Amino acid sequence: MHETLTRSGAAWTKFAKGWYLISWSADLEQGAVKPLRYFGKDFVLFRGEDGRATLLAAHCPHLGAHLGYGGRVEGNDIVCPFHAWRFGASGRCTEVPYASRIPPRAAVDAYQVEEHSGMILAYFGPEDSLPDYGIPPIEEMDDSAWTPLQRAQIEIATHPREVIENIADLAHFMPVHNTLIDDFKVTIDGPRATQHSIGRGHNLKNEPIPVVSVATYHGPAIQFTRLQWAYDMVLINAHIPIEENKLLLRFGVILKAGEGVTLAPEVLEAHVAAARNGYFEDVAIWENKCWRDQPIFADGDGPIGEVRRWYSSFFESYVDAP
Ligand code: FES
Ligand SMILES: [Fe+2]
Repeated sequence: MHETLTRSGAAWTKFAKGWYLISWSADLEQGAVKPLRYFGKDFVLFRGEDGRATLLAAHCPHLGAHLGYGGRVEGNDIVCPFHAWRFGASGRCTEVPYASRIPPRAAVDAYQVEEHSGMILAYFGPEDSLPDYGIPPIEEMDDSAWTPLQRAQIEIATHPREVIENIADLAHFMPVHNTLIDDFKVTIDGPRATQHSIGRGHNLKNEPIPVVSVATYHGPAIQFTRLQWAYDMVLINAHIPIEENKLLLRFGVILKAGEGVTLAPEVLEAHVAAARNGYFEDVAIWENKCWRDQPIFADGDGPIGEVRRWYSSFFESYVDAP
């Protein structure tokens, strides 16, 4: 059970509420302190002695120092670099070293964090909203037949709705990904939207091979894809807004080499690169396109309207609702 987190009640209107991937676990060692900027706001992420990752609003309630620049971890708390006030995982001030009492309102906003499958996840949403779904663990990561997680990331200028819409966009597979789709459907189940596709792609020798993919968005920003291509693969595609119209896309992949099989690094890298590039092929389109509220559709376009409606369920009061 989580202790009560401090939340200031700032409006949350422009972004989808839900779980976001805020860091790879491997990028936050014990005692590490990282400044982060997402959703046009500043945060500090740190890992305490107990191994737990904590995400707080960045600026100290005292005189406003950024805890992520020069702040240090002590026990499971973070100490401000300016006058050494100390804050715990709930966001509350736990010590003012030179004062006889802690001012009662001394706290920063704290966010709900979960960590598994190599990912540090945080929930963002309106003040009174709590997560009503979870991000499932990737069980393949505990299986020695699968390679360790390979990661990549890229910053792009677009809106998250473009990334989401891709899952329903049947007609883009051939022009953008050189993949012919034989069977395609999108199923929606509450906060999850899954694209099922069977198609014909190419291996690294450019020979045609079958591609079977089941790609599920768990909420508005984290997608796991089970892909049968040259190897069985699990892909993580996650995006998080840095600010409006600027996104960080994170990509992770594991592949099944087989029990006791070690793939040559160049073979592994070539397949990881191909999977990563598949994801990044869309970027050139996204960065330069405009948004059509009322597109002209043709039959064969895929259920784009349905996925737009699903994505809008993560917004409470977005004036320019997607
Ligand atoms: S600004 Fe953080 S302790 Fe003073
Ligand atoms: Fe795509």
